[in-house]
Amino acid sequence: MKGKKGIAVLISVTLLSLACGHKAEKSEEDQFVRELLSKMTLEEKVGQMTQVTIQVVSKQTGNAHQDHQLDPEKLEEAILKYHVGSILNVWDKAHTPEYWHEIIGAIDANVQKTQNKIPVIYGIDAIHGATYTAGATLFPQSIAIAASRNLDLLRKSADITAMETRASGIPWNFNPVLGMGRNPLWPRLWETFGEDTYLAKTMGRIYVEHMQGEDVSADNRVAACAKHYLGYSVPTTGKDRTPALIPIRELRETFLPTFAAAVDAGALTVMVNSSEINGEPVHASYFYLTELLKNELGFEGFIVTDWNDINNLYEREKVAKDQREAVKMAVLAGNDMSMVPYDYSFFIHLIDLVKSGEVPMSRIDDAVTRILKVKYRLGLFKSAVPDPKLIARIATTESQKVNLEAARDVMTLLKNENNTLPLKKDKKVLVTGPTANKISVLNGGWTITWQGDQEALYPREKYTVLEAIQKKIGKKNVIYAPGSDFDQNGNIRQAVQAAKDADAIVVCLGEEPYCETPGNINDLSLPDVQYELFKALAATGKPIVMVLIEGRPRIVRPIEEKANAILMAYLPGMEGAIAIADVLFGDVNPSGKLPFTYPRFVNDLMTYDHKTSEATPPNQYNPQWPFGFGLSYTTFKYDNLRLSSDILSPKTPLTITVTIKNSGKKAGKESVELYTRDEVASITPSVRKLKGFKKIELQPGESKDVTFTLNSEDLSFINRDLKRVTEPGDFTVMIGELSKGFIVK
Ligand code: BGC
Repeated sequence: MKGKKGIAVLISVTLLSLACGHKAEKSEEDQFVRELLSKMTLEEKVGQMTQVTIQVVSKQTGNAHQDHQLDPEKLEEAILKYHVGSILNVWDKAHTPEYWHEIIGAIDANVQKTQNKIPVIYGIDAIHGATYTAGATLFPQSIAIAASRNLDLLRKSADITAMETRASGIPWNFNPVLGMGRNPLWPRLWETFGEDTYLAKTMGRIYVEHMQGEDVSADNRVAACAKHYLGYSVPTTGKDRTPALIPIRELRETFLPTFAAAVDAGALTVMVNSSEINGEPVHASYFYLTELLKNELGFEGFIVTDWNDINNLYEREKVAKDQREAVKMAVLAGNDMSMVPYDYSFFIHLIDLVKSGEVPMSRIDDAVTRILKVKYRLGLFKSAVPDPKLIARIATTESQKVNLEAARDVMTLLKNENNTLPLKKDKKVLVTGPTANKISVLNGGWTITWQGDQEALYPREKYTVLEAIQKKIGKKNVIYAPGSDFDQNGNIRQAVQAAKDADAIVVCLGEEPYCETPGNINDLSLPDVQYELFKALAATGKPIVMVLIEGRPRIVRPIEEKANAILMAYLPGMEGAIAIADVLFGDVNPSGKLPFTYPRFVNDLMTYDHKTSEATPPNQYNPQWPFGFGLSYTTFKYDNLRLSSDILSPKTPLTITVTIKNSGKKAGKESVELYTRDEVASITPSVRKLKGFKKIELQPGESKDVTFTLNSEDLSFINRDLKRVTEPGDFTVMIGELSKGFIVK
């Protein structure tokens, strides 16, 4: 019989051999790359560092919406003459997986003509699923996944995204976005996991782990790209690609941890912030790229620039006098691959810079070694040609089921006066508003096209909110009137007329799809016409439900009071409409919680983890809804908060337990969230900080204990000397309305 000791020995032998196996693999990889590097010419090396967009190797049809065609001569030139290491993006819209295989196959056929046969790594933005693969499973966007607080669904959706991307023949995904969503104006807020560092770093880590898996060469895994390093998400103006001012202490406290977690999880690539921090463009910063990311965090993968951003160092940021100087600056700062993306200027300048001795060969070798290692790990040297059998894995029924589950879990109920919701299925409902009858609005950017706004390209078998409600309660019970457009009148009067025959009104407001800079706004308010539509409908006196379909929190203060119920749907993806209808009519009990503070006023943009002074009267944290807010159709009672001790020391972590009871009449899910406050600290402490969350499900009357563990490190912060410290003293732990003090020794 195997005793415990036997098992222990067995475990240590296995671990040892695993470790040795890993080491052996690493040294094989090192040796392979070293040998290959020694055979490469300067041109081949600089080619590896060059990434061009697919446009460069395509026939220019003169019409962006004509079908795509590769240009065999240009492709040959890219690979044989310029030795490009990477190609990215899509022509204009999603291709079928079969066509992707053709493209990747054609690229590889050219690689096979070269002496060293170094595979090209194709990269794509598979942001909420395989964006550019026709028919792919497209999940709720990250901001919505953050609202779900459901790590299991995050794992599953990341697994599926990786699988469908690889099945399309593409081994590299430019995601996750790990900037902190702390400026709601920023048009890329919905690509983030929200305003809280703990939430974003927890989700970002899991995303990276599930993109890459245990073995990233597997046919269902891809390399992740943690982006956009660093500080991109909080431009002072709120406009995309504009400067941020972030004190270094704050940078380390709030913005660095998500990237540190991604590096720790083994993220193979990192993409750089297009703009600047404190006047220093990140693409030109030796400090941010080499000292902080590579040396301090120990990032071993490669850094890719963002789109055209080396050129931008002289065209836009004005820190380089010309293109050549920009290339020199960027490469010396630590960028390993340039997303050029339109030409070979980077290649030409860099060769010249190496020949003149301005860029040392050691820097080139370092960059190329990093790139080759990632290609090696991805298994591309074995084969970069996709297996046609993988195509059957795209958009399976099972994946669509996971997608629907995810969409249901993100739904966040913000108001439900007198149980207006759920609506009765046998009553007549008016469905109206600019987001009521479009699938594109549910998905937003990075869907089929970059902007995601081509409604005609969306799969007709998916539902709009109107269609999902019609399916749920029967067409005869649904009246439809478009109401207003996003920012133009449309036909408000007709919608008001139509409301006369309805028992309740569902008015869908929000945003049209956008991505990156085209999504810049000057005002967080909704366009006036949407307020007008709502007010006119509310004036009918019928029960009125507002559904918000939007990538960032647009101000609803002028109309909130008149709404009987409000459901926040974010950008819930391809199954989003069904999930919305499920919640509106009570087939699903909503359980999402806001991943950001929903502001009440355009200029009152305080985050939940503000300082005491920011909320000392007459100041207050008075958002429309706070971070972590979300109602349910049932009620949860929090009780008996207990700590394993009232002292936490470096050696004895604290166990915190609370009992949650479903005290209502419906089964429901609840994200139990643990916050702490440092009562006195050398850097003014936040009023509270999220330190843990667990989503549980409870039947009516059922109770569960939820336990968290806090250790000394969890209570640490960056001090004045830029050191991470935990200062002894009084702390408070808060769960729901309950709180208890403890002492850190
Ligand atoms: C975006 C990146 C994206 C890249 C490639 C850039 O404009 O900022 O997030 O990965 O384009 O599409």
